[in-house]
This record gives sequence, C-alpha cells and structure tokens, in this order.
Amino acid sequence: MKDNNKDNQIFMAGPSISIEDEKIVIDALRNGWYGSKAYEYVEKFEYEFASYHNRKFALMTTNCTSAIHLALLSINVNKEDEVIVPDCTWIGSSSAIKYIGAETKFADIDRDNWCISAETLEARISNKTKAVVVVNLYGNMPNYNELEKLCKTKSIHIIEDAAESLGSIYEGRKSGNFGTFSVFSFHRSKTLTTGEGGMLLTDDLEFYKRCKFLRDHGRQPGTYYNTEIAYKYMPFNLQAALGYAQLKRIDELVSRKREIWQLYKEKLSDVPNLFFNIEPENTFNSVWSTTCVLGDQYEIDSSHIIEKLSDYNLPARPFFYPLSSLPAYNEKKEYEKINNVSYSISKKGFNLPCALNITNDQINTYCETLKQIILD
Ligand SMILES: Cc1ncc(COP(=O)(O)O)c(C=O)c1O
Repeated sequence: MKDNNKDNQIFMAGPSISIEDEKIVIDALRNGWYGSKAYEYVEKFEYEFASYHNRKFALMTTNCTSAIHLALLSINVNKEDEVIVPDCTWIGSSSAIKYIGAETKFADIDRDNWCISAETLEARISNKTKAVVVVNLYGNMPNYNELEKLCKTKSIHIIEDAAESLGSIYEGRKSGNFGTFSVFSFHRSKTLTTGEGGMLLTDDLEFYKRCKFLRDHGRQPGTYYNTEIAYKYMPFNLQAALGYAQLKRIDELVSRKREIWQLYKEKLSDVPNLFFNIEPENTFNSVWSTTCVLGDQYEIDSSHIIEKLSDYNLPARPFFYPLSSLPAYNEKKEYEKINNVSYSISKKGFNLPCALNITNDQINTYCETLKQIILD
C-alpha cells in the first residue's frame, strides 16, 4: 500500500486512496451527470456490493444511520414496538429507533467478542420486540448461529449492523449476509470509504422495494408523483464511484487492517492481561479498528492511558460508552447493574490508531510509549 503519510503524524482513522480510485472518480466527475450516466456508478456499486455479499438486493444510502432507518420503516416498526441494540456501540446503530418513536432496549455485550449474545439478547426480549440491531463491533463477529436460532423462534427481525465489519467472515458466510437486512457505513473513517455513505442489503424483494420508495421522497418510480411523505436518503454518483473503486481493492484494504492488528499484538505481547479483537476458529476478523481492553487486574482505566498518550501527542479513543449512560438516553440507573460487562469493558477499553496511512515504524514507536504508560 502506498505510503502517503508525509508529515509523520499518526491518525486514528482514514482511508487509502489509490491512483485507480482517482481515475474512476474522475470518470464520474467528467461523464456521470446526464441520462443513464447520472446514477451509473450508484447502480454498479450496488450490484457489485450485493454480489460480493451473496445478497439479492443492495441500496446505497446517504449513510448507515439512514439505512437502519429505512430498514425499520420497511418492517413497520412503530411507537408500540421495542427494538434491542447492544449497549456498547456507536449511536448510529440506535438513533433511528428514536426517530420512529419506538422503545430502545439495551442488551449487554459478551466479554470476549464485545457483541451481544443469544443470552444477553434473550434477557431483553418481550412480546413487544420487533427487531434487534446486531452490531459486529470493531470487526468482531458474534455467535450468529445462536442469534439466528433465537430470533427465528421469537419472530424477531435481525438488522445486521456491519458498519465496522466489511470483510469479516463467520462460518464461511461474509458479514453482510446475516438477518433480514445488513447495513454498512462508508464514512471517511471506514475501511472502504465514500466520505459519507451507506448501504442496505436484503434478500426480500418487498422490503427492498419499500426501502427504495422511502429513500427518494415516496415517489412512484421515474415520476414526480409522490404518494407518501418519505425521506431523502439518495446517494450521489461521485460517492458511489469511489465506493465502486474501493470495493475492487477490498482484499488489499482488509489485509492492511489485519497487518496493523497483528503488529500491535506482536509489539504489545509482553504486556500481561491486555486483550485485543478476537478471531475464534470459525471466523475471519477484518479488524476495522484494533482495540484493547485492560484486564481487571489494572487499577487504571483507559481514560488514564488516553490522557498520558496525549502528553506525547499520540491519539487513542475510548471504547464506546454504554449508550444507556449517555445524556442522549440517560438510562444509566436502569442499565448499569444489568449490563455490567458493557459498563466495565467500556471503562477499560480503547481503540488504537488504525488509519490506512499509518506506517509500521509509527506503530513500533507508538507501542513503545504505550507499553511504558501501561506498565509504569
Ligand atoms: C457500528 C456502527 N453503526 C452505525 C454507524 C453509523 O454510520 P454512519 O455514520 O454512516 O451513519 C457507525 C458509524 O460509525 C458505526 O460504527
């Protein structure tokens, strides 16, 4: 991968843009405006993305949050319903539930893979539960065999939030192949980027058609005749051209993410009780973000480490806060005791810089400082 990191600054996240990517975007910029060319790259990207994931239908959206919103609307989630999300994730996994006015229920995460499990999910299921947003956190995959079995018995839709797991595999199935819908983010920070952007995948024709209708102001296809008030979640040809170009390089991008993860693990291997993204035998982890969690033996929390690293001008980010603890939800009282793994891992976890322009030398020096801080 081309080293375009000239000023030696380390960034948390950011893309790799190749000359070939530039050429494809320039083609869209020069030629992608009129007639059938206006959405040519959107359609090509959707087609290739669906094929890559062995899904029937793909719909590009403005971002992953809007893709989740469309998915929830298409299965008629309403104010009477409950939707379950893991407590530790980015708020984009859950905010659309509130847009609709449904109730959000937070499930605890698993200590090893940091995702929900059948057990933590089951504890939040009621007769009002209509769907669950299962998040593949930082590239990690949950136990989908058990989750699928449980959701089938309870007639609950799975929305697979694969925003962070493009390229991960669970038992031979790619992330993006689970549940009624899978959704992706192509935010600037993601392994495959379109700046801002998202994708919804499904195998259900009716849900696909409904999401497509709701994506563009509820108009009858090809007309200016609107039959419902809907949303404007349309993607743009230039964004899609970049996504289409980046998808051709997905193996290269994922392989660099894995190298970064392996290098961090190797360089920090003599720090005891430090836990990284896991890769059980039946999975392949595309490790969007290398993340560590300090064992409970450490008295310090990740906030201490992040603060010390910043004294050296080195970045790190806290593990996601439990959503229930944030002022946006303000439900800490209800959830702190019952979601104790989420609350404890959130305090002890932090993300390491994983921008695709980071160099191995930068990782080496970063690890020397981090080691000193942890072991001090
Ligand atoms: C797990 C997860 N879900 C949803 C989102 C929302 O994605 P977007 O910013 O594209 O709406 C993100 C984005 O960072 C995410 O990491």
